[in-house]
Amino acid sequence: MDANLLQIIKTSIGFTEQDAASLHQLGPLIRPAVPAIVDAFYHRISRHPDSREILAGDHAVEGRLRQSLGLWINSLFAGTYDQAYLARRATIGATHLCLGIPQHAMFVAMEIIWQHISDLIRSSQVPQPEAKLVSLHKLLTIDFALILESYKQGYADQVRESERSLVRDKLTRAEHLAEIGSLAASIAHEVKNPLAGISGAIQVIRKGLQPDDPRRPIIAEVLSQIDRLDSAVKDLLLYARPNPPRILKCDLNAIIERVLKVLRAEPDMRSIQVDFQPDPQLPPLPADEAQIEQVLINLLLNAAQASDDGDTIHISVGINNSSLRLILRDHGHGMEDLVRERMFEPFFTTKAKGTGLGLSICRRVVEAHRGCISVETQLGEGTTVTVDLPINAA
Ligand code: HEM
Ligand SMILES: Nc1ncnc2c1ncn2[C@@H]1O[C@H](COP(=O)(O)OP(=O)(O)OP(=O)(O)O)[C@@H](O)[C@H]1O
Ligand SMILES: [Mg+2]
Repeated sequence: MDANLLQIIKTSIGFTEQDAASLHQLGPLIRPAVPAIVDAFYHRISRHPDSREILAGDHAVEGRLRQSLGLWINSLFAGTYDQAYLARRATIGATHLCLGIPQHAMFVAMEIIWQHISDLIRSSQVPQPEAKLVSLHKLLTIDFALILESYKQGYADQVRESERSLVRDKLTRAEHLAEIGSLAASIAHEVKNPLAGISGAIQVIRKGLQPDDPRRPIIAEVLSQIDRLDSAVKDLLLYARPNPPRILKCDLNAIIERVLKVLRAEPDMRSIQVDFQPDPQLPPLPADEAQIEQVLINLLLNAAQASDDGDTIHISVGINNSSLRLILRDHGHGMEDLVRERMFEPFFTTKAKGTGLGLSICRRVVEAHRGCISVETQLGEGTTVTVDLPINAA
């Protein structure tokens, strides 16, 4: 706390040596009454439900609170209002904030203290009680200002600490992702070639089988599982080592129709309707066709996986300023807030068989095309993904 603060507040309130002296004179009257004042204070605040929760029968805390408050009241009448006086008040706000005691509780608390001590002074025989009450009022106002200032510092500390931990979290997460990314890339690389070998060998075996051999369906199943593995490996490599887009003029209508044809065989898509009307007016799109296909596949699979059997996914295309706009709308289960916040993170998934790379690949591809992707979602209502891709190549 600023070392000059006490002096500044004393001067602006008009707290003089005279006030200091008259408070000092009150010491012998107040000191014996401190335990009773603390008792009364404690009794009053523990009636309040919030305080009751904080103090919740913890006798050690109760004891320390009584002691802190007793020392504080005594120091009001010690007659010295110096840096040590300031220092004893500088941590009140931060301590209270740690315990969950709000700043507004200080208004009530101060009022209780004022009532008790002023009653005591009025009912006593001290000379010039009214002048002494004025001095006491000034000092309590000074203390109040110091306590509020100490709360301000407590809040500032809390903000700094939460920012620090946010940055720390982000760093660990980024390091974590980078590690996972490079590990994934090396595993994917190691898996790719043997996988191609296995697939080739199985196909040789299949050729040697009679058309009615009962082992044929087993071989077909093995090959389809190999395909699945191969596409997971491709996803990982694509994510870990993205290729820069090879831009050529493409027909977005044709890409969508081709993707829909390919996906028709996917189990996730079989019971889903797709509503898509190609727009014949659409200008050519400068893009990497294979990458845009990948985006469409990922978005369509997400939409289908979120939908119920028989649901319809709507795809529309059009022009938005100098971009082509693709909108993909589903009536699926939508996303909770936590999923919405994290859906673009690599490896974030809510699915048992997901890798969590779909949307992060989409975003990376779209951004490599200088476009943007946004998602609106409503829990239980569905999800709309909008992708804008600039018409003019860079
Ligand atoms: C005029 C009002 C108040 C003053 C002047 C005051 C003063 C203090 C002081 C000087 C401390 C020690 C701070 C430190 O060591 O950093 C403290 C701690 C504490 N105060 Fe207050 N306080 C006030 C109001 C309240 C109220 C309304 C509550 C309500 C529950 C409360 C509960 C506590 C508790 C639980 C501690 C911590 C005790 C411990 O565990 O050490 N205080 N207070
Ligand atoms: N259309 C959607 N409706 C509801 N939730 C979605 C939708 N699209 C994405 N999500 C949520 O976002 C998460 C991340 O999606 P993302 O495509 O990145 O990974 P994934 O689909 O889980 O796995 P992968 O695509 O790698 O197989 C999903 O697990 C899902 O919870
Ligand atoms: Mg996905």
